[in-house]
Amino acid sequence: MALLRIRKFPDPALKEPALPVKNIDGRLNGFIDSMVQTMYAAPGVGLAAPQVGDSRRIVVLDTDHENPGKSLLKLVNPQIVESHGTITWEEGCLSVIDFTADVQRAEKILVRAWTPEEKEIEIEADDLLAVALQHEIDHLDGKLFIDRISRIKRELYRRKLAKLIKEGKADGKPPSAVRI
Ligand code: NI
Repeated sequence: MALLRIRKFPDPALKEPALPVKNIDGRLNGFIDSMVQTMYAAPGVGLAAPQVGDSRRIVVLDTDHENPGKSLLKLVNPQIVESHGTITWEEGCLSVIDFTADVQRAEKILVRAWTPEEKEIEIEADDLLAVALQHEIDHLDGKLFIDRISRIKRELYRRKLAKLIKEGKADGKPPSAVRI
């Protein structure tokens, strides 16, 4: 099992919509376990395959870092089938350094997905789990949370990042808000 390299904005891999996994079988396990280790090591509450340069619809999440593993989700081909209400949450992302922003999302969602054991499951989520699931599924569609904020805010971030890169400080970790 190896830690995977997390791609950072503006890496083009993050823009690529991921493809559904056609055969869910044991061959996914090694990769998914590496994703889980990479998520915990970061640390983050979620990680999507495109963030490690893999264009398949796979995400891992654990919103309870007090009890690692207890609420761990490994999802293949997740889809939002219902959403209700709105919620605003300060989001950060393992792929976006030195920036967080308030993002508006659905408050409650119902997600349908497959487990790596090829079992179809449904997850009813609210609060952080709902936010994290929507954030990760966005990654599968080649979207980052900074695509969901105003153009002005995004432009300010681009400039800040360009300055950090110029000054050689761009290797910083994502800030300590929720990293998903
Ligand atoms: Ni993210």
